Amino acid sequence: KPDFKIAPSILSADFARLGQEVEDVLASGADIVHFDVMDNHYVPNLTIGPMVCAALRKHGISAPIDAHLMVKPVDRLIGDFIEAGASYITFHPEASEHIDRSLQLIRDGGVKSGLVFNPATPLSYLDYVMDKVDMILLMSVNPGFGGQSFIPGTLDKLREARARIDASGRAIRLEIDGGVKIDNIAEIARAGADTFVAGSAVFKGRREDDPNRYDSVIQAF
Ligand code: DX5
Ligand code: ZN
Repeated sequence: KPDFKIAPSILSADFARLGQEVEDVLASGADIVHFDVMDNHYVPNLTIGPMVCAALRKHGISAPIDAHLMVKPVDRLIGDFIEAGASYITFHPEASEHIDRSLQLIRDGGVKSGLVFNPATPLSYLDYVMDKVDMILLMSVNPGFGGQSFIPGTLDKLREARARIDASGRAIRLEIDGGVKIDNIAEIARAGADTFVAGSAVFKGRREDDPNRYDSVIQAF
């Protein structure tokens, strides 16, 4: 039985009270903090960087932090996120000139590595690096914004990625990001995902009777 993990995307959190928001989702049962890094160049939005990751560590957050780099170029920020305490660093292969080198930089820093696939990016980027990834992240929306709808064709791509992982015999996590909701997560899990990013679904699911808690939506997953 797969070991499912829920990774709330803090892109949809209230940045003015980020430390508390992260504490609240973890207390509500989340497993991983999904940290979206956007550079207004590789993607048309600008978010948070390594200083904010380091600040969460300083605040006492000890859960895994999954840094999803939507930036170009990637290599210099890899070093910064290693220093800042990231647990996973994933990047988009189109954004790196030397994919193998970027993956190796991440692992050399003692951090888990991963590649991210946009909806139209082929999984063939994995052909020669399956032994260098700890995570495969499939985007089920075009990256840049929270709150978009899940692209249905991603389900077939998940099945293909799951088959590649099973054939490799390696313990590689299969993460899905974009438009994950309570009403589609079961189907996404059946297609092979084991790690579920959810931004708007989690942060809009704040319990009415207690504005600081997210139990209802995270438990529903
Ligand atoms: C999109 C980001 C996602 C986003 C998901 O570029 O990578 O992590 O926050 O948000 P929802 O769950 O709202 O689609
Ligand atoms: Zn993301």
